Amino acid sequence: MKPSLVTDFAGVRLKNPLVLASGTCGFGREFSEIFDMSRLGGICSKGLTLEAKTGNRGIRIWETSAGVMNSVGLENPGVPVFIEKELPFMQTLGPRPQGPALIVNLGGHSIDDYLAGVELLNGADFDILELNISCPNVKAGGMAFGVKTEVARDVVRAVRSICKHRLMVKLSPNAEDIAALARACEEEGADAVSLVNTFLAMAIDIKKRRPVFENTYAGLSGPAIKPIALRMVHQLAGVLKIPVMGAGGITSWQDAAEFIMAGAAAVQIGTANFINPKISLDILAGLETWLESQGIADIKEIRGSV
Ligand SMILES: Cc1cc2nc3c(=O)[nH]c(=O)nc-3n(C[C@H](O)[C@H](O)[C@H](O)COP(=O)(O)O)c2cc1C
Repeated sequence: MKPSLVTDFAGVRLKNPLVLASGTCGFGREFSEIFDMSRLGGICSKGLTLEAKTGNRGIRIWETSAGVMNSVGLENPGVPVFIEKELPFMQTLGPRPQGPALIVNLGGHSIDDYLAGVELLNGADFDILELNISCPNVKAGGMAFGVKTEVARDVVRAVRSICKHRLMVKLSPNAEDIAALARACEEEGADAVSLVNTFLAMAIDIKKRRPVFENTYAGLSGPAIKPIALRMVHQLAGVLKIPVMGAGGITSWQDAAEFIMAGAAAVQIGTANFINPKISLDILAGLETWLESQGIADIKEIRGSV
């Protein structure tokens, strides 16, 4: 018999635990031309801000030997345009709850910014709000929310008090104390956490003798970060009661299995989409075949087993 990959994630039914990570699939338009996205467990929108943003100048993506660095700077159309033009498209990706769960990723520069975004999104139909308190490429504050526990607590408390959706807080691996920060999110009423966002990193153009990125530092993702992300997911899954959505360098079904064994209820695939846009389907097929070969009837049986 085919194993079950259905996952209850903070009360949201995911048909399988595979979710496309924010910023690596836009709003699904391009991917939907390549494969049937209704086969995914979920899709996270590009990170939104209240107003449209043109993003950072200069080089935005830089390949490293084991991943990529990006300094996109949250280029996005802004929440109102998203609600009018992009969310209706995302809603066509498959029927819910049978199709992919829709996750909306929201960033901000101040608590008021977040609150204004949440207020607008409260009237919209999607499954989970992913609160991005962790983008390293936004000057003036984005990062600060995700680094200090008490600052994260304040933003989660304020957002929780008005947010009508399930609330998942996306954590930064650059946090001072990621376990304390995650517990603060849980205490303030987050329904789930996702981790990790990108690691603050740097590249130097030796010919020009200056940093590659205009903002000097940029976010590192992909295989280079996997073992560290895995450790953080394991650490948090051991101390939180709310579910964890793991991310960081997942490029194969074996990587996804590792995150689930470390305690992730679901996983996000990010950078790997740039190498093979259908990689999540390969990961799905690999997981199914492996579970079946092991005589495991339900993916829950391996969750948190390590
Ligand atoms: C080009 C690019 C853009 C990203 N944009 C966002 C974003 O807008 N919001 C966000 O929360 N994370 C963003 N991320 C982070 C990813 O969602 C993911 O957390 C991270 O890349 C780690 O997973 P990976 O190693 O599988 O890519 C971005 C990552 C990349 C590579």
